[in-house]
Amino acid sequence: MKIAIDCDDAGLPLKQAIIDQLHALNVEVTDLNLSAQRKVDYPDIGYNLAKKIAAKEFDRGILICGTGLGMAMVANKVEGVFAGTCHDVFSAERLCKSNNAQVLTLGARVIGPELAKMTVAAWVKSEFEAGRSLPKVQRMRELEQEELAQTKEGSSSGSNAKTSCC
Ligand code: RB5
Repeated sequence: MKIAIDCDDAGLPLKQAIIDQLHALNVEVTDLNLSAQRKVDYPDIGYNLAKKIAAKEFDRGILICGTGLGMAMVANKVEGVFAGTCHDVFSAERLCKSNNAQVLTLGARVIGPELAKMTVAAWVKSEFEAGRSLPKVQRMRELEQEELAQTKEGSSSGSNAKTSCC
């Protein structure tokens, strides 16, 4: 399994502990470290990682900010990506087993390093169980596609309206 990780300033104190934990679990981890390349905050950092997940450059991703919330919000904007914030082992397992999410987000101001490491370990060891969860996850994908189609339709009818009134 190939995992990408990144964080904002608030997530920095937790990132190395999670990288060390992934190494201990024999998981290949790449630190994208976008903020070393340019001045960015959590929206760009989360978007950058999520785009790489959508492009299948990595199997999964971990994003860390102060709460985990902003990172999850922005990662979920990318088509094909599901992200969730988890600060306990049960939720981290369900994030994979029930929701088939590829991105785990953590809040370094919410969770301590030991529980974060246990949470990450539970998430890494979990796989999507399909079964009764499959139609629900498929329905989320359908709704995503419907939303994208409506957005495209709206923007093209908007440009038609502009053309016809000019
Ligand atoms: C700090 O910018 C803080 O807002 C951020 O790390 C994150 O918690 C946002 O959701």
